[in-house]
Amino acid sequence: MCGIIGYVGKKNSVSYIIDGLKKLEYRGYDSAGISILQDGKLVTVRAVGKVAELEKATLQVSPKGSTGIGHTRWATHGKPSEENSHPHTDCSGEIVVVHNGIIENYLVLRDKLKSLGHKFKSETDTEVIAHLVEENLQHIRSGSNEEKLLKAVQRTNKEISGAFAYGVLWAKTPGLLIGVKNQSPMVVGMGKGESFLASDVPAFLKHTNKVLFLEDGEIALLRADGVNVLDKDGKTKKPKTIKISWDQQTAEKGGYPHFMLKEIYDQPQAIEDTLRTARTDFSKILGLDTAALRKLQDIHIIACGTAYHAGLVGKYYLEQFAGIPVSVDLASEYKYRTVPHKPGTLAIAISQSGETADTIGAIKKAKQLGFRTLAICNVLGSTLTRVCDSTFFTHCGPEISVASTKAFTSQITSMYALAISLGHANGNISTTAFDKLYKELMRMPKAMSEVVKMEYEVRHLTRKIYKSGRFIFLGRNVNFPIALEGALKLKEVSYRSAEGFAAGEIKHGPISIIDKQTPVFMLMPHDSLFEKMLSACQECRARGAFVVAITTPSGAAQAKDVSDKVLLVPSVSEFLQPILNVVPLQFLAYWIAKRLGCDIDQPRNLAKSVTVE
Ligand code: M6R
Repeated sequence: MCGIIGYVGKKNSVSYIIDGLKKLEYRGYDSAGISILQDGKLVTVRAVGKVAELEKATLQVSPKGSTGIGHTRWATHGKPSEENSHPHTDCSGEIVVVHNGIIENYLVLRDKLKSLGHKFKSETDTEVIAHLVEENLQHIRSGSNEEKLLKAVQRTNKEISGAFAYGVLWAKTPGLLIGVKNQSPMVVGMGKGESFLASDVPAFLKHTNKVLFLEDGEIALLRADGVNVLDKDGKTKKPKTIKISWDQQTAEKGGYPHFMLKEIYDQPQAIEDTLRTARTDFSKILGLDTAALRKLQDIHIIACGTAYHAGLVGKYYLEQFAGIPVSVDLASEYKYRTVPHKPGTLAIAISQSGETADTIGAIKKAKQLGFRTLAICNVLGSTLTRVCDSTFFTHCGPEISVASTKAFTSQITSMYALAISLGHANGNISTTAFDKLYKELMRMPKAMSEVVKMEYEVRHLTRKIYKSGRFIFLGRNVNFPIALEGALKLKEVSYRSAEGFAAGEIKHGPISIIDKQTPVFMLMPHDSLFEKMLSACQECRARGAFVVAITTPSGAAQAKDVSDKVLLVPSVSEFLQPILNVVPLQFLAYWIAKRLGCDIDQPRNLAKSVTVE
């Protein structure tokens, strides 16, 4: 995630761009930059930190010009620094680019461009776009400058692969801003005598509500007096604008009333973005060769809260696919228990923010014990990533809601990718098995986009149960941590009492708290443990519980016989099923909290990152 804004009009673009960036800060906030076309020259200002820092720096330079672009960054390639901040320029400094997404083949392109004499100034994937446009321009002889720029952009798009939405300005085409969209979002705002390009509507909603959402493969040519759109085949398309009726606040949440709900719906994209780097060679990430990977004896997973639950799922994956024994600790416990020193141990810290004090403290202890350390983290440049030997990034974009949703499913996805890669590298699974598992993993974004359709049904169900004082969640095996996560989610946003248990454990004590109408959520996909979950349903029902069975289509008929309500989740392989199963529980927490009038995005007593012990 990153935020892009562009302006072409008749007024000084600076305040439009700075203001737009502030509205986009939720998409990234580690550095920001602006380029203004002033008297035929591009004036660029960049600053590390929030947009407020850029604003201060811009005031010093005080650029003026009616065409400009800006960017707020959520680092994916290269640390947060001024050199890595956008806009990025070509060698001549006459072309500037702002980009959101990941150019997957940037290394190959960078090498090629370097061999052609291009000089790179940053570590980013984005910079290749600026140099490619420059390179392509040199080979286009005919046409006006505007036609040449368009052709160069079209050629560039054919060469780059991955997800990209970008804006480009050329000093030789004043009054023209080009926007490109492919897999990452890009919208155009049509004002009176001014046009806007942005990653999201809030960036310009103050100035116009006439909006055009670009489709993949489309290119927009923005001028003060209007916008032309070319479709993916390069043919002119009649722009289909819509009028946005959202207010500013609603627009920042993508039209959703809360960030939590938006982030639940972000999950198909978040998983897709995380998977983009999943075929990565983990031996490289870990800095270990095959021989060293084979010597891994033990894995310690350390995390807090929701990330801890992702770690618990990870244990099942690593033991199943890599055949390595795994322990999972709450970071606050790991730090103070005696951890025997054992060579060949890998310690994995999972954290969305990378700033959780307990997790950082625990991983430092693992380092002192001489263990190799790996972070699974969402925030580039965060403390955890600087402490650990290496990091695998979940690319789910900034998570604003205190209740973690998309980070959780991205963390589990990452653990799965790590487990199958380690298993393949250490010979625990064959190449054929690895390929099959990998293919199944790659189908998850689609399955995720199916499962988010469950909101209406879950919402309807909560009407009946939201006043209940206590909720129980049960699961077995790889779905046991999902029961814990379902309970945590509900607790933190609705303040209701909720507990998660391994279904086999209830008869050892917890069943005593079940009484008439206690809602009990059963995570019971139609897998090898389905029969056992059917028995758990019977046991709870016999005590008067209101049983909700979360199962897959082939288990529906049997689940119906032993429950009060069946929620059907699409079926995927047994080990990937938890990634889908958690989604109805996220909706459940959201809707119960909403009906109870709770402060969903900022629940009482909680903070997004817990930076104290
Ligand atoms: O940033 P982290 O992933 O390290 O945060 C860990 C926990 O504080 C976090 O998951 C917390 O439990 C969430 N609020 C759960 O929704």
